[in-house]
Amino acid sequence: MSKPTILVARRVFPEIIDLLQRHFEVEANQEDTPWTKAELAQRLRGKAGAFTTGSERIDAEVLAQAPELRVCANMAVGFNNFDLAAMTARGVLGTNTPDVLTETTADFGFALLMATARRVAESEHYLRAGKWERWTYDMFAGTEVHGSTLGILGMGRIGQGIARRGAHGFGMNVIYHNRSRLAPALEAECKARYVSKEELLRTADHLLLVLPYSAESHHAIGAAELALMKPTANLVNIARGGIVDDAALAQALRERRIAAAGLDVFEGEPKVHPALLEVPNVVLTPHIASATIPTRLAMARLAADNLVGFLVDGKPVTPLNPE
Ligand code: DGY
Repeated sequence: MSKPTILVARRVFPEIIDLLQRHFEVEANQEDTPWTKAELAQRLRGKAGAFTTGSERIDAEVLAQAPELRVCANMAVGFNNFDLAAMTARGVLGTNTPDVLTETTADFGFALLMATARRVAESEHYLRAGKWERWTYDMFAGTEVHGSTLGILGMGRIGQGIARRGAHGFGMNVIYHNRSRLAPALEAECKARYVSKEELLRTADHLLLVLPYSAESHHAIGAAELALMKPTANLVNIARGGIVDDAALAQALRERRIAAAGLDVFEGEPKVHPALLEVPNVVLTPHIASATIPTRLAMARLAADNLVGFLVDGKPVTPLNPE
């Protein structure tokens, strides 16, 4: 029997390509440059499956050109690059990679929180620029982390991982807001207290954004929300660009209406709003929260397992829109 043909849309671990080649005819993008939408659609023609990352938009326009497509396996837990309604309408399954990146991403949330609160990047740039001449008592004085109030917006697996680190590791007072409240046992384990979004904004010393991107969460943090935050507060976004209004944030940072921000994701990335590049009190990283080799390998393997599971064995591992 001939093997199904699949498309691998981005450069990925060679061992994952080997694994896929055992089951499929594979056409793979060997470059780091993503294909344009038109090229992606054209290459998807005749393919039964696709290995995608958060950079490939799969919507009605693309699907119309790929009538044989049956599954898209995202190497990401986020799947806002999928128009899931359009995929479901065409009978195309989407899968993602939950769980395998939770702890690594929570670690990075904390790294960005610490770097932001304690002004690590800003002070490092100062030193490298040869500006350090003497010790002074208030040089790069930051915000306290231990014992402070950690606010978490979005309390899925990654949010819970951050809550545990904050409560158990740093003795932080953890508050959270989410669409639905956690079960009491989970709240107790995370030592987290449910509050309204307004209370979260008003009381957090460090506000961590860990919610999925959707039309509902677009600009969940804009000028009005930033205005509610303490002038000493820090904001960290490891979720998705578009959840924060980057222009409003740059203005709040410039005017010191909040103390600082740490951002791993941006509206329209890899482009970064130029105003953010101009303010010193922001730590900027290029969407690397899940970037350790073991975790990225686990993500790639789960995406591959979803393709094999669905196209070969009829049973995907982590389906998003099962029939
Ligand atoms: C995810 O998994 O959604 C990350 O943002 C990609 O690394």
